[in-house]
Formats: sequence, C-alpha cells, structure tokens
Amino acid sequence: MRPLDSIRSIKTKIGIVIVAAVGVTIAVVVLGVKAGFPLLVCGLTAGALALAMVQFLARGLTSPLRQMSAAATAMAAGDYQRRVETTSTDEVGELALAFNGMVAELAEVDRIRRDLIANVSHELRTPITALQATLENMVDGVVAPDPPALEIMLQQAQRLGGLVSQLLDLSRLESGVVPLQVQRFKARPFLEAVVREAVLPVAFKMSVEPEDLSIDADSDRLHQVVTNLVKNAARHSPHGQPVGLCASERNGEITIEVCDRGPGISKEESERVFERFYRSDEARASPDGGTGLGLAIARWVIDLHGGSIEILANSPSGCRMVVTLPTARPGAR
Ligand SMILES: Nc1ncnc2c1ncn2[C@@H]1O[C@H](COP(=O)(O)OP(=O)(O)OP(=O)(O)O)[C@@H](O)[C@H]1O
Ligand SMILES: [Mg+2]
Repeated sequence: MRPLDSIRSIKTKIGIVIVAAVGVTIAVVVLGVKAGFPLLVCGLTAGALALAMVQFLARGLTSPLRQMSAAATAMAAGDYQRRVETTSTDEVGELALAFNGMVAELAEVDRIRRDLIANVSHELRTPITALQATLENMVDGVVAPDPPALEIMLQQAQRLGGLVSQLLDLSRLESGVVPLQVQRFKARPFLEAVVREAVLPVAFKMSVEPEDLSIDADSDRLHQVVTNLVKNAARHSPHGQPVGLCASERNGEITIEVCDRGPGISKEESERVFERFYRSDEARASPDGGTGLGLAIARWVIDLHGGSIEILANSPSGCRMVVTLPTARPGAR
C-alpha cells in the first residue's frame, strides 16, 4: 500500500502533493532563515526536501501507466499473460482494472481463434487425406475407378463442402451480416417438411398444439436448426425407437421440442455441446459423427430470434432439446 492509495481522485492526490511540497519549502526556508542560515542554502535545502517529499507521496501514481505500456507492447508481440498490478483506487487504478479485463478478454478471443484454426485444419484434413489416398490408389492402379470407390470419394467431397458451408454460416451469423427474414408460417407443414427432407431412418411422433399453430421466424434458418436437432436425435436414438417432435404455444412463447431415447447429454456437457466443434467422446469415435458445428449454429440462430435453446433430460432416458421463440417480433411483419 502506498501513502495516497486510498484517495479515489487523482486531482486530490496531485493537490495534496503540491500543498505538501509548497508547505515543506516554506517551513524550511522560514525556519532556516530564523536560525541564521544564508537564504541560498535554505532555498536549496527546501527544494531538495520538497523533491524528496513529492517522490515519497507520488510513489505509485504513474506506475500502473508504465505497466500498461509494457503490457501493451507485450500484447503486440502476442503475449497476453501480463497484468497490471496496482492497489490504487483512483482513476488510474480503475483504468488498470479495465485494462486487465480487456487483456483477459483478448486472451480468450486469441485462444478461441487458435482453437478454431486447429479444429478447422483437423476437420478439413481428415476428408482431404481420405480423398488423396483413394485418388493415389486409383492413379497407381491399385483401385479401379468403379462406382463404389467414386461413391466414397463423393462422400468425402460432400463432407468437405458441408463443413465449409457450415463454417461460412457460423461466421456470417457471428458477424451479424445475415438479416433475419422473419415471417409467419404454420408449424405443422414446416415440421413435416423438415422430417421429409432430412430423410432419416427413424420414425417420428409429431404433435402440434394447437393444431393450426403459427410460428414467427426466419423459416430457412429455423429449418436449419430443427434439421440439426432431428438429425442429432436420430443419430443417438436406439434402433426402432421413435423421435418425438412437438410444437406448442405457452405463455406467449412457441416451444419446439425434439426428444429421443438415446444416451442423453450430461449436465456437465450441456453447455459445452454448444461450443464450435465440441463432440462427446463417443460421437468423436463414431464414423458417421458430424463436425460439432450444428448446435453452435442453432444457438446463434435462436439467439438472433430473441429465443433460447436448452437441453433437458428426457424420461426415462435420452434428451429433450427445447427451442423457445417469442410469438411475434415487434416490426417483424
Ligand atoms: N440428441 C443427442 N443425444 C446425445 N448427444 C447429443 C445429442 N445431440 C447432440 N449431442 C452431442 O452434442 C455434440 C454436438 O452436436 P452438434 O449438432 O453441434 O454437432 P454434430 O451433430 O456432432 O455435428 P454437425 O451437427 O455439425 O453435423 C454431438 O457430437 C453429440 O456428442
Ligand atoms: Mg448435429
């Protein structure tokens, strides 16, 4: 703790330093002259003492600024570990706290950026390596370019294309450049179209309450969200078990629920699955697993609609993905 650390205003601190320096100067000169010392000696001694006093009182007044300057230089070189240490409570102290907050935020953004590059490179490399291996085998004459081999190559190319368009979607959503085309449409035909177009090897139990329920949303974007939810549910559902798809209106909100009887998502994982590229260990090990972008996109889309998406446990097992949307957006139509 430094002498003036508890004072919350930098102006008051400077005022105190000036008054103390002037006070010391006057006292030393008056006392020295009274004691018979020459005026020059008294003046020089008073000046030296006043300087020492300023040094003592102003200690720490500018050190956070120096630390901030050093930390900013380190940040420019990619080091986000430096923090400003200060016990001061004045404006410079507040600035130092805000600076530390900003550095922590930038460090997190930098971590996400590095993770993203690592994940994207990894996800792109897997299908590219498979494609390259098949093509090499064809060029060497080990594998004939017959329909099964071409089918495998087509799947890898589709996976690459899908990954790139999901990444583009996510980046557009995050930067906010996709304006929502909100309109009113009927829930039942919408959900039926999602199920029909997803072409999944499971049965669906659909319920819409009330039967003529309407939704106010961007139908293409919501289609993308519900498609991902039903694909996830179908992927994790035990063989022969139907997937539930329900839409209802309650307390001025539309709820769309997708329920399955699979292993479910644990409480610890229920936030992490919304992170880009997050997949459970089983999903990672499975050859037909996705890329881990679907729920990240879903959360962005639903947030843009002013709604929410959450994961609840299904009874007796499995998970219930619950999307909640406001019934009408002001100025939407
Ligand atoms: N219904 C579900 N039951 C169990 N786990 C699920 C379910 N839905 C999602 N998960 C878990 O959440 C992870 C993330 O899901 P998400 O939809 O974001 O990615 P994905 O389905 O793996 O790939 P993508 O949707 O990008 O093709 C999945 O990999 C899986 O581990
Ligand atoms: Mg998915």
